[in-house]
Amino acid sequence: MNPVLTTETDAIIGWHRDGEGIVTLTMDDPGQATNTMTDAMADALLSTVERLEAEKDSIAGVIITSGKETFFAGGDLNRLMNAGPADVADISAGLDHFKMCFRRIETLGRPVVAAINGTALGGGFEVALAAHHRIALNKKGSVLGLPEVTLGVLPGAGGVTRVVRLLGITDAVLGVVGEGRRMVPAKALDVGIIDEVVSTQEELIDRARAWIADNPKASQPLDRKGYRIPGGTPATPALAAQLPAYPANLRKQLKGSPMPAPIAVLAVAVEGAQVDLDTAFAIETRYCAQLICGQISTNMIKALFFDLNAVNNGASRPQDRPVRKAEKVAVLGAGMMGAAIAYVSAQSGIEVVLRDVTIEAAERGKDYSRRLLDGAVAKGRISADARESVLARIIATDNISDVAGADLVVEAVFEDIELKRRVLAEVADHVGPGALLASNTSALPIAEMAAAVDRPADVIGLHFFSPVDKMPLVEIVVGENTSDDALARGLDFVRQIRKTPIVVKDAYGCYANRVIAKFVDEALSLVAEGMHPASAEQAALQAGFPAGALTLFDEINMKTIAKIRAGFIADANARDVDFVTSASYPLVDRMLGEFDRPGRLEGRGFYEYDGPGGARGRLWPQLAEQYHRPDVLIPFEDAKERMLVAAALEAVRCLDEGVVSTVAEANIGSIMGIGYPVWTGGTLQYINQYAGGPAGFVVRADELRGRYGDRFVVPESLRGRAGRDERYL
Ligand code: NAI
Repeated sequence: MNPVLTTETDAIIGWHRDGEGIVTLTMDDPGQATNTMTDAMADALLSTVERLEAEKDSIAGVIITSGKETFFAGGDLNRLMNAGPADVADISAGLDHFKMCFRRIETLGRPVVAAINGTALGGGFEVALAAHHRIALNKKGSVLGLPEVTLGVLPGAGGVTRVVRLLGITDAVLGVVGEGRRMVPAKALDVGIIDEVVSTQEELIDRARAWIADNPKASQPLDRKGYRIPGGTPATPALAAQLPAYPANLRKQLKGSPMPAPIAVLAVAVEGAQVDLDTAFAIETRYCAQLICGQISTNMIKALFFDLNAVNNGASRPQDRPVRKAEKVAVLGAGMMGAAIAYVSAQSGIEVVLRDVTIEAAERGKDYSRRLLDGAVAKGRISADARESVLARIIATDNISDVAGADLVVEAVFEDIELKRRVLAEVADHVGPGALLASNTSALPIAEMAAAVDRPADVIGLHFFSPVDKMPLVEIVVGENTSDDALARGLDFVRQIRKTPIVVKDAYGCYANRVIAKFVDEALSLVAEGMHPASAEQAALQAGFPAGALTLFDEINMKTIAKIRAGFIADANARDVDFVTSASYPLVDRMLGEFDRPGRLEGRGFYEYDGPGGARGRLWPQLAEQYHRPDVLIPFEDAKERMLVAAALEAVRCLDEGVVSTVAEANIGSIMGIGYPVWTGGTLQYINQYAGGPAGFVVRADELRGRYGDRFVVPESLRGRAGRDERYL
């Protein structure tokens, strides 16, 4: 036969057959920046499959690759987010369509190689799983994997089923799909979901062609005679003995939070391993469609993809300002916060001057970086050289003139307005005239600090959360005189150190602390009203908060809490707004006074500890003895929702007052700043998604107000929104 050369490059999936009969399929959706599972892609895939089958005799092998920077980004998130209960049939048909196409590709009878030239995630990686051999290009920033569970769904185009049949239930669930890990190519190779890693584009194609030449009769292991799932099925005694631990561990991990996706992944893996491939696919489709069409995946996709992108792409960044990079930052105060801010800055390649009043204090601050970097070297995460170069970027000093030339100052000295004013005025004289002057204060007015320097427009708040190296959020506090230019620079710096910024008004508590205060207040009120403390903790966990409120009180320390509370009351008085207290206020007072149990630092709080700052033990028994009243029946559902609703109402007030200005920032700030449950999609999305929408939420808040008091007063703006059936978008 005389091979005919054909090339079509303007299609969504380009087709190029060379003289040796190797067809290269290049996915390159002209309408989009990345390839995703759109209708057009689905149609193109089917026509491609039909053509492969029709022209099979002239085809020696198939290479699947992409014409984009990335290989394939995955599902069409807009569609997944908008799918509701009425769309189950439609979504199932969509999943089955991709499954059918992939199955026909892998059973074509010709070797198929995925030449993964960039990031392949989710549905994008499922494309690659349909190939007999997967080669990934080791490109900077390229990640592979099936991260669907992190958005509340599961890999439904054959992903769970194929990975289970490739690696076995245990490795598939624990290592790949269960936590939705994203992996660099080397890690993916190690885990076993790809077969080769190469370092150049030429090598990628050469290796793909060579593999085809060497494996003319390639097939999937699962289609070979005598194939068994690695590690066995649930009928295999060794595995059967282990399996009950999986849901038990999952329960421990989720702590009662309503997250259906990880549970569904486990179900698909275990149920699917006991049946033939087609039935396993059907099981996978069914669970996946349920998740996609449910509310929780909508919430998570909106928050963690759309809102997060909006925030990270500068939702509140003044336009028309050039993006600037900081080269040198001066951190004043090498205490807990300053030390950690220095660390994250140096980690991002910025030169840091870490200044404290004595050289010893400054070096102690630098020790924080030494400790973290030593840990990373010991775990093999970074090299000794990398440790040295990060440390070399941090200069610990007691000499203020070392700050000269810094683009940016972050002060993190004691929380004292006079001290901060003095420190900022002093540093302003030593850095260049263009340096941004930032304060990490958690409660003091930025405007008052700005008044102490001769260029108040350059003063801004950069409110980090503790522990800084773990917490992803930074609130950017805009004072009365802060310029747009300063705001843009503050945002650029936060992005440079790979944190997520939200822009907030210079008001007491900013956004995150106002919202978290309402959550913990409700939780503690439950105890003060007579609910058993263990039940109140459980209610917080089952609402989806990462930790119980009593645990949090002990960590933050009752002294700090009392100060913050006094601040909120003083602020309300100053603004002439009613401040509604709760039964929790006298309880905090008693914990501090009569009971003398301020928190973990002292080794005694709501919990017992094995010493000051030590490990947490059981709840302090006298708390229940003093407060628990079995005759008071607070429905558990009320307990959970009081925390969620009170925090959401506060978010509405923050939006009304301009403390935050976009819905995306309110949602992301609540999830990343205070651990508002991720399943809700954030404080304002919680209102959108409540049964009956905003109107349903308002009915419920009114009901809670009737039962528990004026903390649940619904702001007029929300009542109006509910009347118009308008969501927070
Ligand atoms: P810290 O007490 O651990 O550290 C303060 C450091 O500032 C000390 O090392 C002290 O020697 C140094 N210092 C005092 N005067 C100085 C001066 N004139 N020049 C240079 N250094 C000086 O305090 P922490 O917890 O690090 O807090 C610092 C700031 O960060 C405060 O404004 C606090 O409100 C804020 N913040 C604290 C958070 C937390 O969780 N601790 C969270 C967010 C903000």
